[in-house]
Amino acid sequence: MARVFVTRTPVGDGLERLRAANHEVDVWSEPAPPPQPALIERARRADAVICMLSDRIDAAFMDANPQLKAIANYAVGLDNVDLAAARARGIPVGHTPGVLTDATADLAFALMLAAARRLPQSAQAVKDGEWGTWQPDGYLGADVVGATLGIVGAGRIGEAVARRAAGFDMRILRSTSRGGTPLPELLAQSDFVSLHVPLTPQTRHLIDAQALQRMKRTAILVNTARGPVVDTQALTDALHAGTIAGAALDVTDPEPLPPDHPLLQAPNALVIPHVGSATPRTRAAMTDLAVDNVLAALAGEPLPHPAPAPPPTTAP
Ligand code: GLV
Ligand code: GLV
Repeated sequence: MARVFVTRTPVGDGLERLRAANHEVDVWSEPAPPPQPALIERARRADAVICMLSDRIDAAFMDANPQLKAIANYAVGLDNVDLAAARARGIPVGHTPGVLTDATADLAFALMLAAARRLPQSAQAVKDGEWGTWQPDGYLGADVVGATLGIVGAGRIGEAVARRAAGFDMRILRSTSRGGTPLPELLAQSDFVSLHVPLTPQTRHLIDAQALQRMKRTAILVNTARGPVVDTQALTDALHAGTIAGAALDVTDPEPLPPDHPLLQAPNALVIPHVGSATPRTRAAMTDLAVDNVLAALAGEPLPHPAPAPPPTTAP
C-alpha cells in the first residue's frame, strides 16, 4: 500500500481506482490551494502526488520530498513544475495531454467569436437597460468568416483550433518553433492571433510591446495558453491606446488577475478565469490520466503520460 497526496479535489471518480488498488488517498479538500509550507509538508507522507497548475513544484519541494515516485500534474502545461530539477533527482513527472485538446480549442474559438462580435459589451448593455431601439450601426463587430487567423504554436491544441477555423473559411497562418510563417509576418497579417505555445524561457513575453505594435489596429489577440506568454503591461498599454482592437484571455499574468488591475479597465479586454479544460468530461479524463500515471509509478513502471523530453541543447 502506498500513499498518494492529491492537492485539490479533482473532478470525476478517478481516485477510486487508487483506493481500489489499496492505496491511501490524502486529498487537500479545502477550496483554496495549500500554502507552500503545507504543500511540502503533506507531500512528505506521500509516495506520489497529483498536483494542480496552481502548485509550485520546485527544487525545494523536491529536496524535501526525495521519496516521491511520481509527480502527476493535473494539467497538460508543465510550467509550474521544475522539470530539470525533477530529472536531476530522478523523480518522474507526468501530465494530461490530449484529453483537453478539444475543450481548450472550443474555448479559444468561443473567445475569438465573443471578442469579434463584442458579446460582453452588448450583453452588459442589455443588463444596463441601454438596449433602446435597434440601431443600424449598433454594436458592430468584426467578421470571422474569411478572416486571417494566426496560430502561434501549432501543437495539438493549435491544430484543433485550425480545424475549427477551416469551418469558418478562415485563412490560416501558423508560426511554430519548427517554422511556418515568421512570427512578425504572422502578426502583421492576422485579423486574429491565437496563442498555443507552452510557457518556456523562450516563449515568456513572446507577445511584447514590439509584437503588439506589429499587429493590425483591428486585430484581436486570444490567449488560452499561459499568461506570461504575453507581457501584461504592454498589452494593457496597447488596449488603452488602441494599438490593437481587443484581447480575449483565459490566462493572465498574474493569475488570478486582481479585480482592480488596469487590464480589466480596458473596455476591449475580455478576461475569463483559466477555464480552458473546464467541462466535466474533460476534467474527469484528466483525473484518469493523472491516476494512470500514479498507478504505473507505484507499480514500478514508466509513466504512460510522461512530461515531454527537454529539447536538445544546442552547442554554443
Ligand atoms: C491547463 O491550463 C492545462 O495546462 O491543463
Ligand atoms: C498541449 O499543448 C496539447 O496539445 O495537448
